[in-house]
Amino acid sequence: MSNERTITLRVNGREERGRFPAHRTLLEALREIGHMEVKCGCEKGDCGACAVLVDGMAVDSCLTLAWTAEGAEITTVRGLGDLESLHPVQQAFADGGAAQCGYCIPGIVIAAKAIIDEHPEPTEDDVRLGLSGNLCRCTGYTKVFEAVSEAAAVIRAGRSGQ
Ligand code: FES
Ligand code: FES
Repeated sequence: MSNERTITLRVNGREERGRFPAHRTLLEALREIGHMEVKCGCEKGDCGACAVLVDGMAVDSCLTLAWTAEGAEITTVRGLGDLESLHPVQQAFADGGAAQCGYCIPGIVIAAKAIIDEHPEPTEDDVRLGLSGNLCRCTGYTKVFEAVSEAAAVIRAGRSGQ
């Protein structure tokens, strides 16, 4: 007997349905319904490539069962902004040359958004700690850390109406 059931996920403001077995991870489910922007790396919680926001909290989607995310607001990197209207974090990464191959960047941008939401004026320690679960094989992280600080400054300036 199949243990599959229909799961409704709310992704980037839209409800999407899929039929999944109980053991399907959120990473697998999101990619199966077309969210290839959520990257698959280690599949064991080490690299952070698969990070998404679940009700505003950055989580490794490879460690989350899809059915547990039913009813939650899921945000992927594509839900933050697109090419016509980049989110300040995405813009800072682009302007600062903070990506090389780019594979880790969707997860890092999601983690950066969560850092700035929690710490509007993040210290270097806040940024380093917040990104400690995200691995990049290409960069030395310096430009990544600078981009997060720059994005936080842009967001603060926007909030103060400057
Ligand atoms: S793929 Fe999820 S942490 Fe690496
Ligand atoms: S930019 Fe290549 S893995 Fe991070």
